[in-house]
Amino acid sequence: MPTTTVAVRLTLSLAGLFLLPAASWAAGAPPAAAASSAMESSFPTPGPAQLQAGAKVAQTCAACHGIDGNASSTEFPKLAGQHADYIVKQLHDYRIAKGAKHPARINAIMNGMAAPLTEQQIRDVALYYSRQTFKPGVAFADKKELKLGASIWMAGIPDRAVPACASCHGPGGAGMPSRYPRIGGQWQGYLETELQMFRNDRRTNSPEMHDIASRMTDKQIAAVANYAAGLRAPSETAR
Ligand code: HEC
Ligand code: HEC
Repeated sequence: MPTTTVAVRLTLSLAGLFLLPAASWAAGAPPAAAASSAMESSFPTPGPAQLQAGAKVAQTCAACHGIDGNASSTEFPKLAGQHADYIVKQLHDYRIAKGAKHPARINAIMNGMAAPLTEQQIRDVALYYSRQTFKPGVAFADKKELKLGASIWMAGIPDRAVPACASCHGPGGAGMPSRYPRIGGQWQGYLETELQMFRNDRRTNSPEMHDIASRMTDKQIAAVANYAAGLRAPSETAR
C-alpha cells in the first residue's frame, strides 16, 4: 500500500475522532471514518458444509488455538469470535506474497502453518473460528494501571497524538467485521507483545498500528493491553 494512501486514511480516521468523541459509540453510532459496509463481514454466512470443512482444518490448529478457538495458553491468541476478514488477512500476511522476499507478518510457527493452506481452506477455517463462542479473559487487578488503560482506550493520548483505541476497535473491543479486529478479552500478554512488535517494526503488516504504537511508552502499552484484556464487547455476536 502506498504511504500516501495510509497517511490520508489515518488523517481521515483522526478527523473522525474529533468530530465524534468516544461517547457517541456508547450511543451505538459508528464513527464517521467507518463506512456502513464495514459493519458486515465481506463473506456470506457459511453453511453447515463449509463450517464442517473449517472444523477439519482447525484440527491442525487446535493444539495451540483450541478446537473452539479459545486458546488455553496466553502465548497463543484466541481466534474464537474473531472477524473472518481479519483472520483471512492475517493468514495471507503470514505467507510470502507474489514478488515479496518475506512474509508481511513474520512468526516462525505461523509462517509454517499458513504456507500449505489453500485459499478455500483459509476461508473455511476463518469462518469456522469466527463462529465459535468467544470466552473473554480478565484484566489484572491493578487499579492505577487500569485507570491509565481506560483513559487511553476511550480518549487516546492527546499530547502524543495517539487516537482513542475505541474509535476503531469499539468501546467494548469488538472491532468491526471487515476492518478492525476484536481485541477486547484477548490475552493481555499477547496484546502487549503485538503492540511492542508494531512499534519495533517486527510486525510490519499495519502502517496504521505502527504509527500508533510508535508514539506510546512501555508503560502506556502495558496499561492499555491490560485494560483491553478485561473488556467485554457489547455484542458477542458481531462477526
Ligand atoms: C504450534 C502452535 C500454533 C499452531 C499449530 C497454529 N498457530 Fe496460529 N498462532 C500461533 C502463535 C504463537 C501466534 C502469534 C504469532 C505472532 O505473534 O504473529 C498465532 C497467530 C495466529 C493468527 C493471528 C491472530 C491475531 O489475532 O492476529 C491466526 C489468524 C492464526 N494464528 C491462525 C492459525 C490457524 C488457522 C492455524 C491452523 C491452520 C494455526 N494458527 C495453527 C501458534 C500456532
Ligand atoms: C485508525 C484505526 C485504529 C486505531 C485508532 C487503533 N487501531 Fe489497533 N488495529 C487497527 C487495525 C486496522 C488493525 C489490524 C492490523 C492488521 O491488519 O494486522 C489493528 C490491530 C491491533 C492489534 C493486533 C490485534 C491482534 O489480534 O493481533 C492490537 C493489539 C491493537 N490494534 C491495539 C490497539 C490499541 C491499544 C489502540 C489504541 C492505543 C489501537 N489499536 C488503536 C486499527 C486501529
